[in-house]
Amino acid sequence: MAKKKTRVGLLKRPKTITGKTQGIPKSIKPQHTRQIIRRFHILQKNRYAIIKRLDKKNNITIDNYKELFKNNKIYQSAFNAFVVPEKYTDSQVYKIDDSLSHNQTVEILAKIDAEIEQRGGIEAYQRASTEGQTTKRGGDSSKRLVEWLREEKYQRRIGDVTALEIGCLSPYNVISTCGIFKDITRIDLNSQDPLILEQNFMERPLPKNTDEKFNLISCSLVINFVPSPQERGEMLVRMTKFLKKPTETSISVLFLVLPLPCITNSRYFDNKRLLEIMTHLGFTQTHYYEAKKVAYWLFEWNGKPLLNAKFPKKNLYTGSSRNNFCIIIE
Ligand SMILES: C[S@@+](CC[C@H](N)C(=O)[O-])C[C@H]1O[C@@H](n2cnc3c(N)ncnc32)[C@H](O)[C@@H]1O
Repeated sequence: MAKKKTRVGLLKRPKTITGKTQGIPKSIKPQHTRQIIRRFHILQKNRYAIIKRLDKKNNITIDNYKELFKNNKIYQSAFNAFVVPEKYTDSQVYKIDDSLSHNQTVEILAKIDAEIEQRGGIEAYQRASTEGQTTKRGGDSSKRLVEWLREEKYQRRIGDVTALEIGCLSPYNVISTCGIFKDITRIDLNSQDPLILEQNFMERPLPKNTDEKFNLISCSLVINFVPSPQERGEMLVRMTKFLKKPTETSISVLFLVLPLPCITNSRYFDNKRLLEIMTHLGFTQTHYYEAKKVAYWLFEWNGKPLLNAKFPKKNLYTGSSRNNFCIIIE
């Protein structure tokens, strides 16, 4: 019997009698939240790997491929035929390598896009992430940042400071309500509030002068969202272009948050490697906290990044249960 096509998985949206979706349910169970986030990251990573393979010959990019495949029969029929499985455990595992033909690659791309759409898209992912910010679920990560900034040693240096929040889900988090910042610029790929600018940090125009730079950049659970190790490295390098140089009276800091397994269970990455990269970019770790599932860092920036060194992918650990998270600088 043919499977019925329904929107399941990331978030079930209740349907009206006309079949239109009604928005996103108010609360999601914690385990489901994790499944949503994990699957979204996998699909994003797979999509990135495919575009990279296709791009080799065809000049296809993440920004133009949907337009290019608008009339591609293989893409369109695979997209329309895809039915997302009810259970996450039944989700497809895609192997993207040289054994795939061009047509097979396009077909997988269509299935990935269809799955993302049927599971509710980036909105569903953001909703799951927002759920993770509720106090019951570990809370808003910026609480820790503000706790650190309130320490005695920063008191004389946070009088008149600005912040850039990359990957902002809510303008009402502690970073926004604490009153420390004279001004906060909040950006996200998919804005959910008029106070959040819809912008890709990687495409944000570079500052023309110091006034367009910031005393603090907050980058909480964003780097792990970025699908490739190279882009993650580029993102860290780019941040240095947006930070003001530190002075006697003002800070220059980066608040970073990553899921703990990025540094505790990767084949290619750990905290030591992160600190090597950060040191090279001019950062010194001043605070670190490891919670059950996430790690938090506060780095002070010295204004003098060294941009010549390379940090390639390096095999650090073996073990089949490890993940492939990595940040590289080429
Ligand atoms: C897991 S959510 C984290 C949100 C929040 N900062 C937190 O700590 O819970 C990741 C967010 O980063 C955003 N994001 C990812 N890459 C980005 C980029 N290059 N520029 C702006 N926002 C980005 C995504 O759209 C998503 O809303």
